[in-house]
Amino acid sequence: MRSAVIPPILDLTKQVVRAAVRPGDTVVDATVGNGHDTLFLAELVGPAGHVYGFDIQAQALDAARARLQAAGCLERTTLLHAGHEQAGTMLPPAAQTSLACAMFNLGYLPGGDKARVTTPQATLIALRTLLSMLRPHGILTVHCYTGHNGGEAEGHAVLEWAHGLEWETHRVARYDFCNKPRNGEALLVIERV
Ligand SMILES: C[S@@+](CC[C@H](N)C(=O)[O-])C[C@H]1O[C@@H](n2cnc3c(N)ncnc32)[C@H](O)[C@@H]1O
Repeated sequence: MRSAVIPPILDLTKQVVRAAVRPGDTVVDATVGNGHDTLFLAELVGPAGHVYGFDIQAQALDAARARLQAAGCLERTTLLHAGHEQAGTMLPPAAQTSLACAMFNLGYLPGGDKARVTTPQATLIALRTLLSMLRPHGILTVHCYTGHNGGEAEGHAVLEWAHGLEWETHRVARYDFCNKPRNGEALLVIERV
């Protein structure tokens, strides 16, 4: 049964992202998948903004492209068939100092190959890189899952890294359901202050 009061992680993620992103902003979807978050971001930034999206699977990018096209938002997005760990070399210089938000939704592609998952190594490189590109009050959101192979280790690695960020420069908030019996998930929100 669904809670009537406590927001699901996805709803809370969107609430926080809506507070950080304005029309005209530049943002990143670090894990495009089927493009739900990419479209959400594209609608938030509007026609004057831009979304850069990364995914290593062509299947994911094809699904996302179709979704964005159907919604009339394809022109305000750049879909990159590349790992998010390459953000430092693939994003244009202007984006590298002005990001309002980068969203990470870790794990495997829903409906795809469950063996092709995000990895702690690549995720940490991408998090460090994209964090350095945030404008003041820009945010990273990281939705971690522990139910799949490697998910728990990745969640630990992300949390350990986030714990080490200085309070003077970044705020890190964590949200999870501490009594969820299976397929644990957590949201980290990191704001550059
Ligand atoms: C949980 S899914 C994302 C779901 C997506 N946000 C949506 O709305 O459908 C995770 C995605 O991360 C992708 N991925 C795995 N390693 C990656 C990497 N190094 N860089 C970018 N994407 C990666 C997978 O191919 C998969 O599509």
